[in-house]
Amino acid sequence: MRVQVVIIGSGPSGLLLGQLLGNAGIETVILDRSSREHILSRVRAGVLEEGTAQLADKAGVGARMVAEGLPHDGFSLAFDGRDHRINLFDLTGGKRVLVYGQTELTRDLIERRQADGRLTIYEAANVTPHDFDGQTPFVTYETDGATHRIDCDFIAGCDGFHGASRKAVPEKAIRTFEKVYPFGWLGILADVPPVSDELIYANHPRGFALCSMRSHTRSRYYIQCALEEKIEDWSDDRFWDELRRRLPAHHAEAMVTGPSFEKSIAPLRSFVAEPMRFGRLLLVGDAAHIVPPTGAKGLNLAASDVHYLFSGLLEHYQERSNAGLDAYSARAVARVWKAVRFSWWMTTMMHRFADTGEFGQRIQEAELDYLVQSPAASAALAENYVGLPY
Ligand code: FAD
Ligand code: DHB
Repeated sequence: MRVQVVIIGSGPSGLLLGQLLGNAGIETVILDRSSREHILSRVRAGVLEEGTAQLADKAGVGARMVAEGLPHDGFSLAFDGRDHRINLFDLTGGKRVLVYGQTELTRDLIERRQADGRLTIYEAANVTPHDFDGQTPFVTYETDGATHRIDCDFIAGCDGFHGASRKAVPEKAIRTFEKVYPFGWLGILADVPPVSDELIYANHPRGFALCSMRSHTRSRYYIQCALEEKIEDWSDDRFWDELRRRLPAHHAEAMVTGPSFEKSIAPLRSFVAEPMRFGRLLLVGDAAHIVPPTGAKGLNLAASDVHYLFSGLLEHYQERSNAGLDAYSARAVARVWKAVRFSWWMTTMMHRFADTGEFGQRIQEAELDYLVQSPAASAALAENYVGLPY
């Protein structure tokens, strides 16, 4: 088989890129090692920047997102027992974010791809990019014990942090940067109304907590936890008690609790691989970078990579110019580092660190106080939260 672009990974970055390319008449095949059902059962991000929502709309999958997504004009930073509202809309000259689950966006994209009759091969084992240094790259994979080969012009590595694409790059050609944080997030999903209309990011002596949502009837809540914590030790009751203790009293009292239907622990990490292009192999999204979830940048960064790569590929096929592809890595990496910095800063400001001592604690308190008192500092937070321009 031969197509123009083989996309490895059917997460949001691979699906979004595939949809944009398909709409432009550029032929793709998507290969994923997981099943469609598994991909659709993953619970991940929930906050879309305007740029991400616009890209989804441009791809032609915006209808349900616009109908069901919840626009948010602000959020609360809770500390000292009080809410401090960050008015995103006013501080950014009219920008907002959209609360719409990654799972829903993925479903919209998968259904649209299927309706358009474009090929995705699920449960593809040993997916491997080859010869991307030359002019005739190809990808091999296995299904039902048989090996298959797809020849192509370009390979888009959209296969997440543990994927095969980055691993195929020779060590001497790639540089990586990493920071691992000494805690994780324990998260639940429950069909209870959100405690507040807006998200609450809480800094508390017992640790960070985040109150988010997926709809008016479905809540997504997180608490900072030790990396050694075991999910089995966290009954729903224990989770609700701990969450309430970390919130201002009026939220704790208003909290509606109920059985959770998803509960998981995620470690926190910052990671960047440079460059993001190796000849005819281009890395996109989590395959090239990971951010800690504080500030909701992971999915949004994947979308900005897709934007840069899509415009580069379009230029290649429609204008016979490689300028956009040549600039891809530098353009994407520049935006990536700004989001890495923002996520690291927000993580550092909002979590309890066992080893920073009283000095570190006082600095954190001063930073939060400054942030909510100073319009300039609040504006810098808001500008990053709604997403820096592409
Ligand atoms: P992915 O979504 O990881 O998709 C990669 C795809 O590639 C997957 O479908 C996978 O099955 C496939 N794949 C992997 N390896 C191979 C292989 N060898 N061969 C073929 N296919 C392969 N971000 C936020 O902003 N907020 C959050 O709350 C949040 N929570 C998260 C929770 C978890 C547990 C994780 C892992 C991430 C979370 N993120 C969050 C980050 C966000 O979900 C990611 O940034 C986003 O999914 C990146 O999309 P992607 O398409 O690049 O990669
Ligand atoms: C969600 C996750 C985040 O990391 C965040 O900053 C905001 C919301 C969420 O899953 O809803």
